[in-house]
Amino acid sequence: MSLPADESALRTYVAGELERSRARSAALTEAVDDGDLVRQHSPIMSPLVWDLAHVGNQEELWLVRDVGGREPVRSDIDHLYDAFRHPRADRPALPLLSPTEARAYIGQVRGKALDVLDRAALSGRRLVDGGFAFGMIVQHEQQHDETMLATHQLRVGSPVLHAAPPDDAHVTALPAEVLMPAGEFTMGTSTEPWALDNERPAHPAATGAYQLDTTPVTNAAYQQFIEAGGYDDPRWWSERGWAHRRETELTAPLFWQRDSDGSWWRTRFGLTEPVPPAEPVVHVCFFEAEAYATWAGKRLPTEAEWEKAARFDPATGRSRRYPWGDEDPTDARANLGQRHLQPAPAGAYLAGASPLGVHQLIGDVWEWTSSGFSAYPGFAPFPYKEYSEVFLGGDYRMLRGGSFGTDAAACRGTFRNWDHPVRRQIFSGFRCARDAGPADVA
Ligand code: AVJ
Ligand code: FE
Repeated sequence: MSLPADESALRTYVAGELERSRARSAALTEAVDDGDLVRQHSPIMSPLVWDLAHVGNQEELWLVRDVGGREPVRSDIDHLYDAFRHPRADRPALPLLSPTEARAYIGQVRGKALDVLDRAALSGRRLVDGGFAFGMIVQHEQQHDETMLATHQLRVGSPVLHAAPPDDAHVTALPAEVLMPAGEFTMGTSTEPWALDNERPAHPAATGAYQLDTTPVTNAAYQQFIEAGGYDDPRWWSERGWAHRRETELTAPLFWQRDSDGSWWRTRFGLTEPVPPAEPVVHVCFFEAEAYATWAGKRLPTEAEWEKAARFDPATGRSRRYPWGDEDPTDARANLGQRHLQPAPAGAYLAGASPLGVHQLIGDVWEWTSSGFSAYPGFAPFPYKEYSEVFLGGDYRMLRGGSFGTDAAACRGTFRNWDHPVRRQIFSGFRCARDAGPADVA
C-alpha cells in the first residue's frame, strides 16, 4: 500500500489496517458455532480456532514482545501455535484455547499491540521502519483469513457466508493473447515498504518474446479440455502429474460434479450451482493447469513472465506496483478482499488491465506459474527464516496475483505465494503462455 509520509497519519493508517483484518477474522469465525470452530473440516486444514489464536500469537511475538519489549501475554501457549511444531493434521488433538479463550486472548494481545503502536518509534530500526512489523502482522492475519475462507469452502453444510456476485455489466470480449516483448525488466522490489523478504530486492530479469493469455482460463475453456478426454490422455500430463492424476482419480476441478444429463455443477460455500462458463476456473492443482496448457498447445508462464505482464510499462521501461499503475487496488480495478465469494467473469475489470492489455492479473484467482520457489539474487531472510527461507527449493510452485479471497494488503505485482503442486483447496487457477514465433513478432 502507499503509506502516509507523516508519522501520526501512518499510525492511524496502521490501526485501521489492523482493525480491518480483525473484522474479517471475526466475520469468518462468528459465521459458525463453536463445534464448527474446533472441528477439522479437512486433514489439510487447521481447525478455524487454531488460525484465530495463531494470528494473535504471531501478533504477540512480533508486536507486543519484540517491537514493544513487553512481557509475554501467554508464553505457555507459544508451542501450540507454532506451525512448525505441529502439522495441520495433528492440531485438533492439541490442548488448544477454546473459542471463548481464543477470542479473549487475541483481544488482549490487540489491546497491547495498539498501545505499542501509539508509543513505539516507527523508524530507526529496520523492523519498524515504515511500520513494517505492523504491516507484516496485518498481512499475516489477512493470509490466514484467506486460509480460513478455504476451510469454509471445505466445510460441509448449508451456506453461512454471503456476498453479492461480481458485477458483470461491463464484461468485454478480449483478444485471446497479447504479445509480450523480449528484454529485461525490473523484477521484485527494494522500495515497497511492506513487501516481504522473498519479494526483495529489485533486480533485472530477462524474458524472451512470449504470447500471454489476456485472461485466466475460463470454466468453459477448461470444460472443453474435460470433454476432449484431457483427464484420460497421458500425453498432456507430466510424468508426476499423470501419476498423481491416476492415484487420486482426478476427473474435474475440486468441488465440481457432473449431473446425469452431462451438465457440470459446483459447490461453493455450501451452495450448489451450475458451473458459470465465463468465470476463471478455480480449485485446480498445478498438474491440472500444466496438462490443460499442454493440451492447448501452450505452457504455463514462468514467474518472471507473469510479473513482467503485471508490472512492465513499455512507455517508460519501469516496473509499476500493479498492472494499472502505482495506485492501490479499488473495487473497479480488481476482485479482491472477499467482497465477492467467487471470481468475476473474464473481461470484467477493464480498469485493471496492464498497458499491453493483460487483464485480471490481480484478484479473481491465484495463478499457477511453472517456477519453483527460489530466492532472488541478494535475498536475505527478514525478519525470520520461517517465513520464506525454509521453503526455498522445496516441492512448491509459485502462484501469483491473489484471488477474490486475498486482501489488497497482501497482494501486489511483486507478491509471491507458493504451494505444493497437488494443492487445490486454495483459490487457484491459471493462464497460459507460449513462446512467440516469428509470425507473432513480425
Ligand atoms: C505464503 C500463503 C504460503 O499460508 O502457509 C502464514 C503464509 N506464513 N503464516 C502460508 C503464512 C506463515 C503462507 N503462504
Ligand atoms: Fe501463520
